[in-house]
Amino acid sequence: MRSPVGLYSSSNSAPGTVTDFLDLLNPQPGHRVLEIGTGTGWTAALLSHLVGAQYVTSMEIDGALAALAEKNLRDAGVHPYVVVGDGATGCPERAPFDRVHVTCGVHTVPYAWVEQTRPGGVIVLPYDPGFVAGHAVRLTIRPDGTAAGRFDGFAEYMMMRSQRIVACAEQGPSHETRTRVDPRMITQAPPGAALAMSALTGLHIGSHQETDRLLTWVSDPGVPARWALIIYVPDADDHEVHQVGDRPLWDEVVNAYLQWMAWGEPDRDRFGMTVTPNGQRIWLDAPQRPIG
Ligand SMILES: C[S@@+](CC[C@H](N)C(=O)[O-])C[C@H]1O[C@@H](n2cnc3c(N)ncnc32)[C@H](O)[C@@H]1O
Repeated sequence: MRSPVGLYSSSNSAPGTVTDFLDLLNPQPGHRVLEIGTGTGWTAALLSHLVGAQYVTSMEIDGALAALAEKNLRDAGVHPYVVVGDGATGCPERAPFDRVHVTCGVHTVPYAWVEQTRPGGVIVLPYDPGFVAGHAVRLTIRPDGTAAGRFDGFAEYMMMRSQRIVACAEQGPSHETRTRVDPRMITQAPPGAALAMSALTGLHIGSHQETDRLLTWVSDPGVPARWALIIYVPDADDHEVHQVGDRPLWDEVVNAYLQWMAWGEPDRDRFGMTVTPNGQRIWLDAPQRPIG
């Protein structure tokens, strides 16, 4: 669905991704499930089939979409509880949940989801830190009220409304250098490297292919006057780097990649995430080994 300002706001998810996420969620009959992002209602219908419609709560921020989903669900003969609202707050009046299935991308996990899930319960979500790729993660709620789990495969979803990543770069004095590093090594990095680089630097990255050159930019979320642009030209020995602001963002990204290499190039599934009331952190191999 296209919003009045021209941004796409909802889509049906790719069937393969939906089934991968349902496998990860592992819902059982009678589990109380909260879905974030009703969209067409398709996932809510599948969840209703798996656990029983009376146990499914599905939240959608867009009232028009929620109404459409309710019609689709009625036509399919299932009646889960669809609620219009910001999924970031969860749905305390229907808690506690055994499973939370998030079907929009997030870079920051709202603690409300952890609070509203039983100990031993599971949250699955597409984690998208704005750096090369999105990653599915499965978090289990621990008795101390925190949640932890490992990354498990690729997941690219539309971002949650309040967490959309908007590229914003302010002009400023630019410092020009050159790099011998091929920027494609960073923008096409394996998922483990992408996770490491985003956790170590907290930066965002994007790229755009033009006819005869590849533009890569790195930005510091929340500080529009800090960014870097790297211009790759095929067959060149080195490439232009324009850095604006007081942090050498490109160098930081390259150093993070080298750190990932020094760790022995761990794959995505060796990384995990812990969510506490005070925030979230990414770790390598075990929660006791946080990075970044
Ligand atoms: C990829 S679609 C979900 C697809 C859906 N699960 C299905 O089966 O068709 C993402 C949905 O999340 C919704 N959304 C975005 N931000 C949200 C928020 N803060 N709370 C609830 N829903 C949100 C969007 O409006 C969109 O419908």
